[in-house]
Amino acid sequence: MIGGPRGMLEQEVSKPRSVGRTLGRLAGYFKPYWLALVGVAALMIVNAWVQVVTPELLGQAVDCYLTPAVSATLSVGEGASAAQQQRSTTTPEESSSFACWFGAVPADAPAAEFMAGLGRLVVGLIAFFVIGALTGGAMFFLMAWAGNHVLRTLQVEVFAHLQRLSLGFYSRNESGDLMSRITNDVSTIQQAISFALIQVLGGALLLVWIAWNMLALNWAYALLSLAVMPLMAAATIWFSAQARKAFRVTRKEIGNVNAELEESISGVREVQAFSREEANIEAFRASNAANRDANLRAVAYTSALAPTLEAFGYVAIAIVAGVGGVFLLQGQTLGGAAVTLGLIVAFISYVQRFNQPIAQIAVLWTNIQSAVAGAERIFDLLDELPEIVEKPDAIPMPPIQGRVEYCDVWAEYKPGEPVLRGVNLVAEPGQTIAIVGPTGAGKTTLVNLLPRFYDVTRGAVLIDGVDVRDVKLDTLRKQIGVVLQDTFLFSDTVMNNIRYGRPEATDEEVIAAAKLARAHEFIERLPEGYNTVLGERGAGLSQGQRQLLSIARAALVNPRLLILDEATSSVDTRTERQIQAALEQLLAGRTSFVIAHRLSTIRNADLVLVMVNGEIIERGTHEELLAQQGFYYNLYMSQFRRQEQVARAAQRSGDGRPALSQVPDAA
Ligand SMILES: Nc1ncnc2c1ncn2[C@@H]1O[C@H](COP(=O)(O)OP(=O)(O)OP(=O)(O)O)[C@@H](O)[C@H]1O
Ligand SMILES: [Mg+2]
Repeated sequence: MIGGPRGMLEQEVSKPRSVGRTLGRLAGYFKPYWLALVGVAALMIVNAWVQVVTPELLGQAVDCYLTPAVSATLSVGEGASAAQQQRSTTTPEESSSFACWFGAVPADAPAAEFMAGLGRLVVGLIAFFVIGALTGGAMFFLMAWAGNHVLRTLQVEVFAHLQRLSLGFYSRNESGDLMSRITNDVSTIQQAISFALIQVLGGALLLVWIAWNMLALNWAYALLSLAVMPLMAAATIWFSAQARKAFRVTRKEIGNVNAELEESISGVREVQAFSREEANIEAFRASNAANRDANLRAVAYTSALAPTLEAFGYVAIAIVAGVGGVFLLQGQTLGGAAVTLGLIVAFISYVQRFNQPIAQIAVLWTNIQSAVAGAERIFDLLDELPEIVEKPDAIPMPPIQGRVEYCDVWAEYKPGEPVLRGVNLVAEPGQTIAIVGPTGAGKTTLVNLLPRFYDVTRGAVLIDGVDVRDVKLDTLRKQIGVVLQDTFLFSDTVMNNIRYGRPEATDEEVIAAAKLARAHEFIERLPEGYNTVLGERGAGLSQGQRQLLSIARAALVNPRLLILDEATSSVDTRTERQIQAALEQLLAGRTSFVIAHRLSTIRNADLVLVMVNGEIIERGTHEELLAQQGFYYNLYMSQFRRQEQVARAAQRSGDGRPALSQVPDAA
């Protein structure tokens, strides 16, 4: 079967189907960089630890130095309350919710000692901030480093795979779409890996650690302070679900806008020829407006999330300060422990640290999901098997003599819809076989079986008695020259374009091939001759010139078998004659299959096959077929005879184009 199941890529996969498997496969690519990942994990833990510890240090500053210092001052003066009196008799370490890391100072010590302790603590705090900043930076860099290496590997793998996929795949998937998918998917994975992943993991670690620490410090106070957490989580989930819905619409609209852009740019000739500019501008305006509205809706939801979380955060701070303050002032215990001013300060600082990770996780989680979906699409692509595969015991194709045989060949693109139905033919070495027939008859399909771009469903294609399915693909294809209707030229020099099929050819060989193809003359006239760099797809050359280049390209390879899909585009008679002469020389001595549109080619062919609806209904030389007065005769009368008349008229009028008045109407 030619076609195979329709490509996975056509289905838009919006949600990952098997997150575990995809992540596992992606993780496999990180194996060479495991040391970096261990480093990232270590840095992440240190970074989170710093963030958990700094609020505690603030608490220590208050409980170990500030409060005792103030009470000492107050108890010296008059009017100290009973509570303060009582406190000043205990050591600060006992009345603190924290251990004093930078040294406890006795309550009756001079004020200078409290100052010194506070100074040590501030230096320690600064050191922690520096460690936090350094570990954060290093963590992102290391992860981005590993991520970039992995993505380069993946991209090269995808590219290499695309080079090997069969033509059938490319006829099912548009190249522009493939390209944008690959680049977009890779960049979403890149963002997720080098940025979102550590934010989410680090954020989750921080949340758990902070909650744990708060519970350890004072479980009852912690539970009260964390009461708004579920509300924050609920709000986050709701807002991001709304935003995601809106973003889905945006993506669809962006797709429409891009498609319209792409079409209007590539089809600009048709646009202008049919004066569709105004209509297109109007349509574009409409898609753009829809895109803008969807975008604004998405932005509205995302920008509402942060203030909402912030508001909840303030509620949490109010609870911490209010409840803590009441218990502190009343000197009551909470959860079995005294509430100190330092504890309140530390908890306020903890609660403030909650919003950010929650918002981050919400936003970046979708990021990670779409990256997983992207990775899935890339893996789907990598899993797409070439339909044309070599047999394990494939042999190298021996040097081709040129006998080609089709034995009862059937072929189909869609199961059950044969496009070739039992084709039999034999081409002897050196013969030129012309194939004619109405459009859609199966001519291109027939010749595509020879270099095994597709496989037959039944029967066999033999070259020198060897089935093309039994040989190594590259040894087969290297010996077959293909000149297509629409020549693809690369943005490179003329020299390198001709050399494409035989990179090792010398400049002299290239020039000889160009001379054979009658292309030398016009190449010499180009601004920089053979070194002229062609525009994309050969922009800057005429149709006829491109054909001459493609003939030169095939002549340089000097294949034993040649497939030629003649261009139908009309060129001026002078170029036409050059092409004819070039073709005659190219075809001489090789077995050639020519999908013919030129009467001259057909006349010179050893055998003309008339294809209709997947079958060869007539065969013979031009004269024999005319004599039969069958399908070919009618084709000739309606199509080819006119070419003859045009050519004759052109000859009569000299070298240039024929005057229109001299062209008699076709019968
Ligand atoms: N890649 C493809 N996938 C599905 N169907 C295809 C594909 N290529 C060709 N076909 C179908 O197979 C039939 C034969 O196509 P083919 O290209 O061989 O015709 P052709 O004789 O070369 O026509 P033309 O003279 O227009 O080039 C047509 O009906 C066409 O629609
Ligand atoms: Mg065709």
